[in-house]
Amino acid sequence: MCGIIAYAGSEPVTPILVSGLRTLEYRGYDSAGIGVQNGDGKSAVTRALGVDDLAEAVSGQDWNGGAEPTVGIAHTRWATHGGVTIPNAHPHTSAEGRVAVVHNGIVENYIALRTELSDAGYLFSSETDTEVIAHLIARRVESGESLAAAVRCAARRIQGASSFVATSAAEPGVIVGVRLGNAGGIVVGIGDGFNLLASDVLAILPHTDLVVYLRSGEMASITASGAEYSDLSGMVLERSPARISRNFEAAARGEYPHFMAKEIAEQPEAVSSAMRRRVDFENGVVDLPELPYTDDEIRLIDRVILSGMGTSLHSCMYGAQMIEAVTGIPAQAENASELRYRSTSLNERTLVISVTQSGETADTLAAMDLATQSGAKQIALVEAEGTQATLVADGTLYLGAGQEIGVASTKTMMCSLTVLYQLAVYLGIHRGTLSAKRAIKLVSDLSRLPGLIAEMIDDDDHCEQLAHDRLGDKRHLLYLGRGALHPVAMEGALKMKELAYIHAEGYPAGEMKHGPIALISDDMPTVALAPQGALYDKMVGNINEVKARGGEVIALATYGDTTMPGLTDEVLWVPEAPEWIVPMITLIPMQQLAYHTSVALGHNPDKPRNLAKSVTVE
Ligand code: G6P
Repeated sequence: MCGIIAYAGSEPVTPILVSGLRTLEYRGYDSAGIGVQNGDGKSAVTRALGVDDLAEAVSGQDWNGGAEPTVGIAHTRWATHGGVTIPNAHPHTSAEGRVAVVHNGIVENYIALRTELSDAGYLFSSETDTEVIAHLIARRVESGESLAAAVRCAARRIQGASSFVATSAAEPGVIVGVRLGNAGGIVVGIGDGFNLLASDVLAILPHTDLVVYLRSGEMASITASGAEYSDLSGMVLERSPARISRNFEAAARGEYPHFMAKEIAEQPEAVSSAMRRRVDFENGVVDLPELPYTDDEIRLIDRVILSGMGTSLHSCMYGAQMIEAVTGIPAQAENASELRYRSTSLNERTLVISVTQSGETADTLAAMDLATQSGAKQIALVEAEGTQATLVADGTLYLGAGQEIGVASTKTMMCSLTVLYQLAVYLGIHRGTLSAKRAIKLVSDLSRLPGLIAEMIDDDDHCEQLAHDRLGDKRHLLYLGRGALHPVAMEGALKMKELAYIHAEGYPAGEMKHGPIALISDDMPTVALAPQGALYDKMVGNINEVKARGGEVIALATYGDTTMPGLTDEVLWVPEAPEWIVPMITLIPMQQLAYHTSVALGHNPDKPRNLAKSVTVE
């Protein structure tokens, strides 16, 4: 997804912007650009199809007057309107280059605005929606308004969710940023003799840990010496910076060849962190002080909806099953992009649980807005601090996974499953549906999770060998699971698609004979999730059906299972584990198979093509 970094200070700005862009690369992007104020009455803009090329281009620049510019804006673009070309990369400027803009999001009414501006004589040099913002601002600046006033006017004219940052040659040293809706955030970084604006706090952290997060409809105007805040009516706002405690070093790859490998390996620690200060193992109690509901309010809940996208939706599917089993409240997982447009009957007795590692996924936020309008109770499970989902929810359960750089979610999913587990237990205790004995058992089961995950991670070699020997040359894969292993099968298939670019389908195993079975052949292996449990025999039936049609089967089975080796082509072993823990540990080989197949095929699993870490457009 697009990224923004902007700096006003006294240091040479281009190295700061380039290193900021490198930090933002993990969000996924296809082109990049920098615009600096170099004192000749316009923004000097450099654009390229990659940050490396951009860095090379700016390092050779001969700036006007010989002095290095100290104020500038930069962007990594993830194409929405117009192809991946240099003219479409940001910054976009007004015709004479006096106003420069970088933008995240979509200007929904850009065609009407473009027509209006073209009729007024403004010339367009890109296919983007963003360029209208540069011209809208320029028109106001030309008529003598300040940059902040011009940005405010432009912000009021554009429709849809956007965040953008602008400079004007008429006001050297000033950068203005605005957040409209949920198209990614704007974070202000407060330094000593410098200030920054960025879409992502990670790009700010190397410089300062004092930040202000803009809310929707808020603007910040920064210079080297200060930051001012206002809303779209021009009212001045008082905002105090908060000190954030993110360890940037933790984001370094360390000994691992890829961030994804590191993040898979970090899962025992990550889930421990997700339980910290919440689970009392001694007394079998889960405490979630972040939730504002009384026991009476919890007892009145008659429906639970879990909403998310991608990997987070798969976590929701698990959460729905466990919450319904433990609390007896009807619970369902919903794709947020569908929920937001559906006619629903949410009300104050509905609990909506939104799962979003980024806290900024546009569809998930829109579904949350729907829930707010209908008066539903709202909890968000989020990794990224201070993001929009946390502002909308009644209470936020932070995942505690630590910064995840790999685009494809791994440890954040594991932590969301862990937190959903705790939430199910918490709701069961406070609703009175869970006996003390059963609560103690579930909490004690959870205490085994870090160790069981560590055991699985140590057993990585078999997945690597399978990736090389059996999967790398395949074009299709089928993943089957039942019950709470169905979402794990879906996630296994998603990971394989995302990282290895192999077509993979995740299905509830019972559905296989209603269609997917027609595809079974020696060219389409099946990954069958068949650990011991209530539905084991059913899975054995499905595996037999695949084998009878000449299909290859890789099974996940519990150590000691004597049936699977004779029945299937390969077995990946999982330790014996409690019912609701099994899906979590089965997730590890799903991640490892996709990771190793991606690497075996020569892809970069950290930056899969066309994907973004944070999807802030619909
Ligand atoms: C993108 C990411 C996925 C993520 C999904 C939902 O597609 O690549 O890894 O699962 O967005 O993101 P969220 O931040 O809402 O969890």
